[in-house]
Amino acid sequence: MADLALPDNPEAPDVAANGVWLHCIECGHEHPPFDGIIYTCESCGGLLEARYDRYPGFDEFDGNGVWRYNAALPFEEGVTLPEGDTPLHRMPRLESEIGVRNLRIKHEGMNPTGSFKDRGMTVGVRVAEELDVDRLACASTGNTSAALSAYGARAGLQTLVLLPAGKVAAGKIAQASLHGARILEVDGNFDACLDIVQDLADRGEAYLLNSLNPFRLEGQKTIGLEILEAFYDDHGRFPDRIVLPVGNAGNTAALYKCFREMVASGDLAPGDVPKLTGVQAEGAAPMVEAIEEGLEDTRRWEDVETIATAIRIGNPVNAPKALPGVRETGGTAVAVSDEEITDAQRAIAGEGVGVEPASAASVAGLRKLRESGEIGSGEDVVCLTTGHLLKDPDAAAEAGSAPEPVENSTESVLAHLAGETASTGLLGRLAGLLR
Ligand code: F0G
Repeated sequence: MADLALPDNPEAPDVAANGVWLHCIECGHEHPPFDGIIYTCESCGGLLEARYDRYPGFDEFDGNGVWRYNAALPFEEGVTLPEGDTPLHRMPRLESEIGVRNLRIKHEGMNPTGSFKDRGMTVGVRVAEELDVDRLACASTGNTSAALSAYGARAGLQTLVLLPAGKVAAGKIAQASLHGARILEVDGNFDACLDIVQDLADRGEAYLLNSLNPFRLEGQKTIGLEILEAFYDDHGRFPDRIVLPVGNAGNTAALYKCFREMVASGDLAPGDVPKLTGVQAEGAAPMVEAIEEGLEDTRRWEDVETIATAIRIGNPVNAPKALPGVRETGGTAVAVSDEEITDAQRAIAGEGVGVEPASAASVAGLRKLRESGEIGSGEDVVCLTTGHLLKDPDAAAEAGSAPEPVENSTESVLAHLAGETASTGLLGRLAGLLR
């Protein structure tokens, strides 16, 4: 069983550098952070997490974006585009439709490459520089590859990405391609790509920047810090719950780390920690299965399928960090259908916020848990939307209304408008399908 408790008075072990070291969550072994390249514990193979000799409070944060939180990060600054400072949208119509006290949407699609991955990469690529590597690599359902390619390009490093063939949204491949990554399409799913890239990393071929890399999660924990600060500024309290899509469970692990550190700093009361609530697609829901069955780790799903290709993942590598996060915070996990995801994507878009399908899973999950009564009407909820609508233009066009062809004259346009105006209704969609 993973031990994620932070010590009350942390003392840097001999292996620490600048008050930072890597701690194995399974056997407790401490590793030097930057002497050599490691991703998992050399003694037992367990997951590692970055540990610090002090936990800064909110009043020590200053500046903008991810690096505002550098007192809680391994470096003062990193390779930046810049990232973070994403909006925490109010959603009044969705809030009253779903029926919660406050509904806010933290739109991570507003990061420079259009997803939360940028927060992890600004830190991860900085670490790569520290380790003096020359090639970066990741497996990806798309967004990690887009972010890694951009940050790799920024740092002047080669980038190699392994993608599941035919299962990555168009916008994401276009990004990796234009930023100059070497793109390998593997005849297999994301989990197979990750197995290969881990092998390559173990053989010293490249520096791995998937969320198995503990420094990625350090950057991503700033999502939680931004939510806590912004929600408190507006409401004078912290949100009751954060609902998020889950793939490899990196964000779930990162948010839990954020909360543990803020509790350790004394600035977040244990009773005020938001309940972490994970949402997966029905066709790729090993975390939901593990929560429902009380498992210590997930069972690997070999066959996964969902319209939300970003979270089409059957073997969430961060489950040992994330499952305790869901349980200890009093959260839960729920699976939603592709139809529920698309409905939520439309509802979010109907309030002007454009997100990709995986992101909409968070709102679909909230809706479902509210309907079942597991979430009450008095809760303050933040849904995390992880990627921008333009990442997956095909899914957006499919979910939206179809363009209507008209002849090239004002008269034809007026006649068309006066006649059949069902472009957003069923007729419009049927017309789109028939074309
Ligand atoms: N939402 C989006 C848009 C994602 O791209 C991902 C993961 C997730 C949610 C799940 O986050 O892994 O932290 O639980 N995408 C990875 C990728 C796997 O390769 O881009 P997680």
